[in-house]
Amino acid sequence: MSDRRSAQWYGGDDRNSYIHRAWMRRGLPADAFDGRPHIAIANTASDLTPCNAHLDEVGRSVADGIHRAGGIALNLPVVSIGETQVRPTAMLWRNMAAMAIEEMLRANPIDGVVLLGGCDKTIPALLMAASSVDLPAVVVPGGPMLTGTFRGVPLGCGTDVWKLSEEVRAGTLSADEFQRSESSMIRSRGHCNTMGTASTMGLLAEVLGMTLPGIAGTPAPDSRLLEAAHATGVLAVDLVEQDRRPSAVMTRASFHNAIVALAALGGSTNAVVHLLAIAGRLGVPLTQDDFDRIGAGVPLLADLQPAGRFLMEDLYRAGGLHAVLAEVQDLLDPAAVSVVGEPFVSVLDAARVYDREVIRPRADPLQMEAGIAVLHGNLAPDGALVKPAAATPALLQHRGPAVVFDSVEDLKERLDDPALEVTADSVLVLRGCGPKGYPGMPEVSNMPLPAKLLAEGVRDMVRICDGRMSGTAYGTVVLHVAPEAAAGGPLAKVRTGDMIVLDLENRRLDVDLPADEWAAREPSAEAARAYAAPARGWEKLYVDTVGQADTGADQSFLLGASGDKVSRESH
Ligand code: FES
Ligand code: MG
Repeated sequence: MSDRRSAQWYGGDDRNSYIHRAWMRRGLPADAFDGRPHIAIANTASDLTPCNAHLDEVGRSVADGIHRAGGIALNLPVVSIGETQVRPTAMLWRNMAAMAIEEMLRANPIDGVVLLGGCDKTIPALLMAASSVDLPAVVVPGGPMLTGTFRGVPLGCGTDVWKLSEEVRAGTLSADEFQRSESSMIRSRGHCNTMGTASTMGLLAEVLGMTLPGIAGTPAPDSRLLEAAHATGVLAVDLVEQDRRPSAVMTRASFHNAIVALAALGGSTNAVVHLLAIAGRLGVPLTQDDFDRIGAGVPLLADLQPAGRFLMEDLYRAGGLHAVLAEVQDLLDPAAVSVVGEPFVSVLDAARVYDREVIRPRADPLQMEAGIAVLHGNLAPDGALVKPAAATPALLQHRGPAVVFDSVEDLKERLDDPALEVTADSVLVLRGCGPKGYPGMPEVSNMPLPAKLLAEGVRDMVRICDGRMSGTAYGTVVLHVAPEAAAGGPLAKVRTGDMIVLDLENRRLDVDLPADEWAAREPSAEAARAYAAPARGWEKLYVDTVGQADTGADQSFLLGASGDKVSRESH
């Protein structure tokens, strides 16, 4: 009997192996069970995840590659999450998807898996699942959509929605034209083409070593994606032969490289929680402070929206991920390997930059320091993030009175009230938006500015929140405050009028009050009334067991790995 994992199901001639084989016979010949690798294609294609809708076609190329290399390809549709469709926020379902995918990979007779993802939460969920099962695994990132143009000008997903809707309010764009711009913006299959979370996580999947080198960032409709998908199928069979598992690929060195890449690309703050969650499954020691330490001093080199001008198709044309990383190769850890078994950095020597507007030289970066800063203080004992590259430099050293909102609804109700006491120096505080409070930690931290200040020409203010923000957003936003208000964090104690001090230089976020007075302050009962209190189902399990942002917001019982063993047989 073969020592393959799938042979535990198919090997032998007893009643159970008969049952496992017989039901799989439809389409599979007898020699499918002779010990060749059975490889699942974990596929997040779904009509309700439009960014991933093309993955069935990608999966067919993967399957062709698996068959060509002598394996058996098995399509495994898995939980899919459409960022723009699901409520209340896609993040609420990331861990559920990861849990369901993990269990199905473990429960089934497979020897390895190809992971097909794209839209924001799908690649993180797939990598978390694969890490906990630790079967040989490789990712095919679904790729960004093509650049859409409207009135002769490129449109970036997300980022430009806000600009166009402002034009409608200003009367320079008709409602009819606004509607027609929809299919110009979302022009093709694929995920958002700005440097949002999907682009970030697709590229970081490669930097972590988990893809065929060179595939990440290939536009979704590009024939080269199908060619690379085919090659990934071939590679998956080899991965099983070599028994190369995620735990051998995603090491501390890989995460170091991912943090450098995140900064050089100007990637999404969401990558922090996703990378922490993946590391938590693997048992790789990674802390939020590592992002500040490793990312500090890394220049921003990719001129992509929302920080810059171009879109993902431009990055690919300009030389892609490898060309960006070749500029900062000295900052990368050469010990990291990829799924092909070579040092990750070995592919960078061949990289070329074809457009210096899109990929800037190290000596002339878009910004000198693009890393994510991690703040601590009496407002954020376990940390909070700020992305200086997206902020107004003058506001990063700031002292101002708090204007506190207890929920997103409270914010919507009062923000534009002309009677709201707020100035450009005020610090907007929004709580109840963490993993437990909302629930699911929505992307609301970049809260809008009060209408009366906008009318005065104010374009940015310090904002503080225990939620996340979209990878396509901008502003002086302190986010991922931990612990969140609903988990007993001090954010729940802040009152309107308290003086708040943001001190980026010293990485501090504090309320300026005597220590004894602050310690004695009770959390707001008003705020607590807005926190989520689900009675049953996933939401209840989620709220009861979810961790905080600084450790990746994973469920406590999902940290770590259970491996690929299923010991008992029954029907
Ligand atoms: Fe799917 Fe942006 S909505 S990637
Ligand atoms: Mg999002």
